[in-house]
Amino acid sequence: MDRELKRRRDKPSARKVVRIPAGKKSVVLGVTGSIAAYKSAELASLLVKQGHEVFVVMTQDATEFISPLTLQTLSKNPVITSFYDEKENWRPGHIDLADRANLLLIAPATAHVIAELAHGLAGHPLVAIALATRAPILLAPAMNGKMWQHHATQENVEKLKARRVEFIGPEEGMLACGYEGLGRLWKLNDIAFRAEFLLSRHDKLIA
Ligand SMILES: Cc1cc2nc3c(=O)[nH]c(=O)nc-3n(C[C@H](O)[C@H](O)[C@H](O)COP(=O)(O)O)c2cc1C
Repeated sequence: MDRELKRRRDKPSARKVVRIPAGKKSVVLGVTGSIAAYKSAELASLLVKQGHEVFVVMTQDATEFISPLTLQTLSKNPVITSFYDEKENWRPGHIDLADRANLLLIAPATAHVIAELAHGLAGHPLVAIALATRAPILLAPAMNGKMWQHHATQENVEKLKARRVEFIGPEEGMLACGYEGLGRLWKLNDIAFRAEFLLSRHDKLIA
């Protein structure tokens, strides 16, 4: 091989860095029964504005806090609240979403759903998707500070982190339950930014 060509090829600065842009990705947005559930409407909008397909999956308790219709309108996709919503296809909708997802983001994530995930339960579509997907999982917890700091919750969080589930927050501040402490849902812009980072990190790994 020509000496000059070899020298140029081996020079680190001459190596081509291939970056694949995040582009349009499928984000499954899980919403659970926290007082912060209303904020998921804005989060769904932010993710749509970032150019992604957003599929909202709600727990039954979440529907007490925000209407599926609101999230359906903002996400521009049908919302799943039960295994029995899924009658469109021969293929179970939760397995379809688990396979399509490039990211599973649960915001807000209650103490209850964190415990279900840590124990690998599959009693409703959101936790079943978490078991079936191989996409990265990001949780944004929101709860009373004592619930967050309880050993049971912290053990569940550690278990999930050991399985490479990522967390953002909670943050400290005035909580809806009247206490001040650690338990508020993290800022929505930061959650959307972290989601973007996880989506593009996956691309760069492939590149
Ligand atoms: C007004 C109200 C607010 C609540 N807020 C929270 C909360 O922020 N975080 C939490 O973990 N649980 C909260 N809970 C309790 C959950 O709704 C309850 O644990 C429920 O079983 C969660 O179900 P899910 O995780 O399946 O959505 C709240 C309950 C009520 C009535």
